[in-house]
Amino acid sequence: EWWADEREASTPEFKVIEEAANLLRTSDIPVAFPTETVYGLGADATRSSAVQGIYKAKQRPSDNPLIIHIDSLEMLDRLLNPAPTSPSSTKTPRISIPAIYKPLIDRFWPGPLTIILPNPSGSELAPEVTSKLTTFGARMPSSPLARLLIHATGRPLAAPSANASTKPSPTTAQHVHHDLKGRIDLILDGGASGVGVESTVVDGLCDPPAILRPGGIGIDELRECAGWENVTVAYKDGTLDIKEIPRAPGMKYRHYSPKARVVLFEPCSKEAGVTKHVQKDLNDSAIGAHNIGIVRTRNWRQGLGLAPPDVVASTVKTVDASIDHLTSFPIPVQQTGSPTSRTKLAYDYHLGSDTVSIAHGLFAVLRALDEFDVDVIYVEGINDRDGDLAAAVMNRLRKAAGAEMKV
Ligand code: TXA
Ligand code: MG
Repeated sequence: EWWADEREASTPEFKVIEEAANLLRTSDIPVAFPTETVYGLGADATRSSAVQGIYKAKQRPSDNPLIIHIDSLEMLDRLLNPAPTSPSSTKTPRISIPAIYKPLIDRFWPGPLTIILPNPSGSELAPEVTSKLTTFGARMPSSPLARLLIHATGRPLAAPSANASTKPSPTTAQHVHHDLKGRIDLILDGGASGVGVESTVVDGLCDPPAILRPGGIGIDELRECAGWENVTVAYKDGTLDIKEIPRAPGMKYRHYSPKARVVLFEPCSKEAGVTKHVQKDLNDSAIGAHNIGIVRTRNWRQGLGLAPPDVVASTVKTVDASIDHLTSFPIPVQQTGSPTSRTKLAYDYHLGSDTVSIAHGLFAVLRALDEFDVDVIYVEGINDRDGDLAAAVMNRLRKAAGAEMKV
């Protein structure tokens, strides 16, 4: 058995993990589980019908490959060296993890890094996982609950983020419940995800190696590893040209989008310009009265001219480790437009000034603002060259904003 002793096996936590593992082994309905990046929607990566269940629950196009989650290097080794289909087949040499990945695995696993590997002939992986690619992405999560679940299931788990397709990724069990209730049978609740954005996806099979998706591990950290000094950036922010074949297929879809329109201000935006833009939007009679969300990061402390600065100062909510207790602070917006326009509310959030808390609270705040039915969300961007997570944060925000970027 996978648990350490009798005593542990009788605790409620372990009973729940065993129940989840049972579902993963037998059911075609996926199970949601926490990881350190975002919540995942897991299925046995070797069973086609189970993997199809993920696409059904998420309503996600199936040409988007899934990341394989493993609990150990042994599990990965077994995937790279499937048992021969017929006993008479000639002995094939063992395939090992390409050497280029060794320094990355040593330093970042378990953790928020996904590596691209060749899918071996006779692979056990369901074809739906790789969606016709000759490679697969694998990661070993650092979340103990995630690794326990994989271990208890005894199978590699394919798991995309557990949101409905196009929505911001879930960083709490409540987010998953909101998007997928009625579509799945079990969510393992491990509290809020620490990192808050998805894993970094890297391809070391090409020369020089490339970052396919920015995420929890930054480019500066990658460049410190032997063989990764010249790693290139192979992703594009904003709307991808659909004619171009994206190397990381997931990147072409609308992503991370709340219902509301998102207007992203690049970090060089002049405060005066921002204020003017927001004020113009608010007063635009063609749009009519609407509620707005403001997501501040580093600098916007003066209220953008939306309310007297003293009101804003006393109502700014810092969203850091406490996203579980996210509450709203509606602020009546000063009326400068026509006297007949209805009252507008501004929900004003401050994500904190450091990149770690910005990444941690980002998806939660976009989801919270959707709950308040705001029509537009103004977001203060950060410098995407500002180290580890900043590029990942801006990548997600540019996708959420689509074309609406103000520089
Ligand atoms: O942090 C994460 O990675 C989360 C948690 C749940 O582990 N998972 C996640 O999975 O973000 P998903 O399915 O939302 O993202 C998978 C992305 C694809 O969209 C694609 O960009 C890349 O990983 N990917 C997967 N397999 C690939 C492959 N063979 N070649 C290139 N890119 C691949
Ligand atoms: Mg996703």
